[in-house]
Amino acid sequence: MTSPTQASAAHRRAVTKAAALTAVGGILFGYDTGVIGGVLPNISSDFTLDTPFLQGTVVSILLVGAAVGALIAGRVADTLGRRRAIIATSLVFVVGLLLSIVAPAFWVLLVSRFLIGVGVGSASFVVPVYIGEIAPPERRGALVSLNQLSVTIGILVSQLVAYFLAGSGDWRISVGLALAPAVVLGLGMVREPESPAWLVRQGRDDEAREVLRTLRDSEDAITEEIDDIRGTATEEEKGAQRSLLAPKLRPALLLGVTLAIVQQITGVNTVIYFAPTVLENAGLGSQAALLALLVVGLTNVVMTIVAIKVIDRVGRRALLIWGMSGMVLGLAGLAIAFLFDIAGAGAIVTTVVLAFYVGSFAVSLGPVVWLLISEIFPLAVRGRASSVATMANWVANFVVAVSYLSIIAAIGETATFGLYAVITVLSLVYVVKAVPETKNRSLADIERELSPAS
Ligand code: BGC
Repeated sequence: MTSPTQASAAHRRAVTKAAALTAVGGILFGYDTGVIGGVLPNISSDFTLDTPFLQGTVVSILLVGAAVGALIAGRVADTLGRRRAIIATSLVFVVGLLLSIVAPAFWVLLVSRFLIGVGVGSASFVVPVYIGEIAPPERRGALVSLNQLSVTIGILVSQLVAYFLAGSGDWRISVGLALAPAVVLGLGMVREPESPAWLVRQGRDDEAREVLRTLRDSEDAITEEIDDIRGTATEEEKGAQRSLLAPKLRPALLLGVTLAIVQQITGVNTVIYFAPTVLENAGLGSQAALLALLVVGLTNVVMTIVAIKVIDRVGRRALLIWGMSGMVLGLAGLAIAFLFDIAGAGAIVTTVVLAFYVGSFAVSLGPVVWLLISEIFPLAVRGRASSVATMANWVANFVVAVSYLSIIAAIGETATFGLYAVITVLSLVYVVKAVPETKNRSLADIERELSPAS
């Protein structure tokens, strides 16, 4: 006989295992967005891409694919289920990656990068939504943020690969390494349960109960959870609430889309994607610049772990407020370093400031935005609404990525980082006013506050 404590440990493990497996989607997100910086020179010489425009297209077409992928996958996740959406995502990754590996011509490479982008965009919100729905409220913050941890690990690994394989020139191997996590995700997901919330929403309460028996400790808690979810689902059915345009959805949609945009326009990817370029411009040697990037990447991982440890205790708001304040300091520090022309000379100082900025992001906007996007939308439209916010994130990412180098060329580093600092201050004011605390609350409870049935 299993004792109650053994059963409880087994349930805990089952939730953790499903969350950790799906978080492999985060590795794909991080690796595929991170690897391109390192392999771009080799790709450019292979396909003789001799203009910045062509090179930029190889990088940014992934972001366009991600915006499109997010939008399509939202519908798939609501109609076919979260599990099938994740399996389909991994198939798209496999096809895109195989095409990249064999790409005989430039246009095939572009198609493959677009497809990989579709996978990235889809994974970026389906995974948090799925984990959020299987997690018990008191562990939801940490479990959903495992996905962000995987993103940061994916980015770091991609930088290491760039560092060690740079000489070999075989970009196809570097890109193709992502096949392993893509296959693990797809095959692993076949055996994981469907989201109980989605099952209840489909009227499949018995199956939801079966799933919850593997994840929760007591039959009473399971009944309560199903009733809680069903309560929100039936309120939904009563009105014409199932459209994304329903007035009651507006506050949550505005919040989700704004947060998604804030995560990008506060500049994180100028560092993640361009730090070596910026540091080289500032006078660092290319090896030193790459090393600085690894320090920054490692800080990103470590500080995400810190966030995971505290997020369910200190809450989402406190992390956002402290972390974003740190980001403002970091950006102001960068502006000053370039103003006094010490960015290159003071390589260590500059690296520390960059790491401080990214570390501050890693305890705040990094994990918390994806978490809130998975938490704030009503169940009836959760997939589609969070996919709209996710799409906004990728569009903003695209805009920042394609404009960054031109902005620097036009107004210089100091003004550029100063601008990002001002944007971050304004975003912080918005966050203080608009973000509700969601720690320790059931998703149904959050839904009742943010999108009450009229
Ligand atoms: C963001 C990415 C970013 C990454 C850095 C994610 O939360 O969505 O755009 O590159 O964090 O860790």
